[in-house]
Amino acid sequence: MTVPKFALTEKPDANRAEVVVIGTFKGDKTVTLAPGAEAVDAAFDGKLAEVLSSLGASGKAEEVVKLPTLGKLPAGVVLAVGLGKPGADGSVGSEQVRRAAGAAARALTGTRRALSTLSTVDLHAAVEGTALGAYVFTEYKSEPGDGPIGAVDFLSPAEGTAKAHKATLKAATAIAEAVVVARDLINTPPNDLFPASFAERAGQLAEAAGLEFEVLDEKALKRKGFGGILGVGGGSSRPPRLVRVRYHGPKPAKKVALVGKGITFDSGGISIKPAANMDHMTSDMSGAAAVLASVLLAAKLRYPLEVTADIPLAENLPSGTSYRPGDVLAMYGGKTVEVLNTDAEGRLVLADAIVRAAEDDPDYLIETSTLTGAQVVSLGNRTAGIMGSDEFRDRVAAIAQATGEGGWPMPLPEELRADLDSRLADLANVTGHRWGGMLAAGIFLREFVADGLPWAHIDIAGPAFNTGGPWGYTGKGGTGVPVRTIAAVLADIAEHG
Ligand code: BES
Ligand code: MN
Ligand code: ZN
Repeated sequence: MTVPKFALTEKPDANRAEVVVIGTFKGDKTVTLAPGAEAVDAAFDGKLAEVLSSLGASGKAEEVVKLPTLGKLPAGVVLAVGLGKPGADGSVGSEQVRRAAGAAARALTGTRRALSTLSTVDLHAAVEGTALGAYVFTEYKSEPGDGPIGAVDFLSPAEGTAKAHKATLKAATAIAEAVVVARDLINTPPNDLFPASFAERAGQLAEAAGLEFEVLDEKALKRKGFGGILGVGGGSSRPPRLVRVRYHGPKPAKKVALVGKGITFDSGGISIKPAANMDHMTSDMSGAAAVLASVLLAAKLRYPLEVTADIPLAENLPSGTSYRPGDVLAMYGGKTVEVLNTDAEGRLVLADAIVRAAEDDPDYLIETSTLTGAQVVSLGNRTAGIMGSDEFRDRVAAIAQATGEGGWPMPLPEELRADLDSRLADLANVTGHRWGGMLAAGIFLREFVADGLPWAHIDIAGPAFNTGGPWGYTGKGGTGVPVRTIAAVLADIAEHG
């Protein structure tokens, strides 16, 4: 899917728009108008807040109230969307704007063109929220129905130059497009998206962006000793792959390695999952989708970095050729792992890819994966668990919160390491108890991270895939988390090293 057509405008009364979007606040007693609504309010003789209040509007977050303009404005409809309460100092957070813009975009399905005034509060957030809220995935519908909003004009903020606004629009659109790339991959069902077809799509996208691309097929994986990826992928008739996409930016100051879990379907394998909600495991390649989208975005925004995405792809199925509980795998790089549960497969493919990624001597490693149900138990559906080396983990977590994607720093308790000791091999893939399951997975991965390499592990089991109703700028299905976090971390590294 694509994002709507976006443009900037100086004129709030442009007559091209069918709908004008304004923001509202939840005031102490009544609804109030957000900045940007002045011209619309004037057309209503300064009584717009009163009119909205009489229609039951309160200004609470994501509330949508539509009213006809009856000729008072060129646009036929005003859509008032709630931003919630402003901060004590009157400030409005960018996530408030992003969610309001997303809720408005969802309510504009079937509209050809709208004018958004939310951009006068925060242009970047208004663009991201609008693009992501408008997203629908209709690839598999015979009758797609009303399409998303076709075009949006954003009212330019009063401060700043036209040139700066143009750059903001361009960057925010590129970021939203990257999220859409990830969402499309996640939403593609596993009968069509399997290791080879994912690799093929990655190759097309990389080529279109002029990036280096490499794919190892099952023969190459065998020759080079990728025992983790081969073990996990062995049960499927559709063999595994290891993809590498590299962007070499202008005068790169730092090298960043990205690794993303690409299990195109996770049945659990021989340690099979219960039937209920097993279909959600179509999203078990969300980390892979996010890092692929991120390296493409880094190229589009020409970050002065070298960014390499290493993407292990496998389908975890039970069959006569599956790996078994009890098997010992010889991992890439030489470590051995005893498999005690074939459903703890993500860490096995990631371990191979992490060792591979370190061969290029990166300055940072960011790995993301739908790795553990324990992440959802501990942090819920919307907050990623972020582990890794202390300093870089905290930096990534702070940035995750600033982007609005959310994420919280989590520890890697040393005592859990001994629980991964194996009777036979260097380590086992599970602890054999349920405690701290997200952290134990992080401890497992740590064994494969090069000494001294700053790294972050982002467990997105919950946030990657929305199994509930739409909210803010997030529809059902793939969310594209943590593309915006990775993009912001790359920008931060480009700026500060
Ligand atoms: N892909 C799952 C984790 C997952 C669970 C993602 C729920 C999204 C939603 C992963 O491969 C898995 O099965 N993990 C096991 C690990 C366990 C066997 C140690 C889990 O969390 O149950
Ligand atoms: Mn699993
Ligand atoms: Zn999995």
